[in-house]
Amino acid sequence: MSVTDKINQLKQERDAVILAHYYVDDEVQEIADYVGDSFYLSKIATMVKAKTILFCGVSFMGESAKILNPEKTVIMPDMGADCPMAHMADVEKINEVRKQYEDLAVVCYINSTAKLKTYSDVCVTSSNAVKIVKALPNKNIYFIPDENLGRFVASQVPEKNFIFNDGYCHVHTSILAKNVQIVKDIHPRAEILVHPECTMDVIAMADYVGSTSGIIKHVTESKAKEFIVCTEMGVLYELQLKKPKKLFFDAGQKKCSDMKRVTLDNVVEALENMTNVVEMDEELRIRAKKPLERMLELG
Ligand code: 13P
Ligand code: SF4
Repeated sequence: MSVTDKINQLKQERDAVILAHYYVDDEVQEIADYVGDSFYLSKIATMVKAKTILFCGVSFMGESAKILNPEKTVIMPDMGADCPMAHMADVEKINEVRKQYEDLAVVCYINSTAKLKTYSDVCVTSSNAVKIVKALPNKNIYFIPDENLGRFVASQVPEKNFIFNDGYCHVHTSILAKNVQIVKDIHPRAEILVHPECTMDVIAMADYVGSTSGIIKHVTESKAKEFIVCTEMGVLYELQLKKPKKLFFDAGQKKCSDMKRVTLDNVVEALENMTNVVEMDEELRIRAKKPLERMLELG
């Protein structure tokens, strides 16, 4: 039996649906029922009927699916797949900033631990952060954990006052403006597509800035035939499926080693043994749910 047949059989036996982020390996995206960006996947997680969700991504994604769907069993192919940035904010600092500004909203990128979410007023993803921050009544915004996404949002919402935190994504910050320029010099007609987790000097070079699904949508609509892709290159699978004749260049970025921990083997193993179940303290779950639900309302 092929691995795909095995996975399909196990999905039926376990009443499972497979969700995958664009950064996991191609062969994993290929067997998934839904592939998307962080916002799409968190919405889909609330809509699927299956009893079990197998989340091919990193732990904050599985946690978010569990927070929103306590009645479902959420499993992960590899429990060690964890986004380092999700831990890069500090509860003491949040409390300190809250004391300094009366009218403060703590805006938390979904790439964060459940615990950090409980200290936040609203969650955002890279596809809805600008819209949500604009919609908040608060003037003062403490953006956690990603400084770069925070600075990009601030540039789009100049009427608000931002306090930044020093978290970052090691994949997106491995994209250097000087390397993007070298690729652009070789391919002058290529459009530069940038994820807002990149630094502001790279964002300043962009023809388009957006989430992974925003980048994919832009490529399908653009007249350009060549693109320099400034995000994790896992998006190439979908880009090449949608536009096989267009050309895509990287900027020498790192891979997301955590996303790449998801393999067909550990997908099969997790479904077969129903291991790597996401468990969460009920009080923590209820508190972390509030900012996520607010995001789904506003986003
Ligand atoms: P999006 O898919 O929301 O663009 O997020 C990128 C990311 O880094 C996910 O870990
Ligand atoms: Fe985290 Fe960056 Fe990997 Fe996304 S690409 S999961 S932000 S380390």
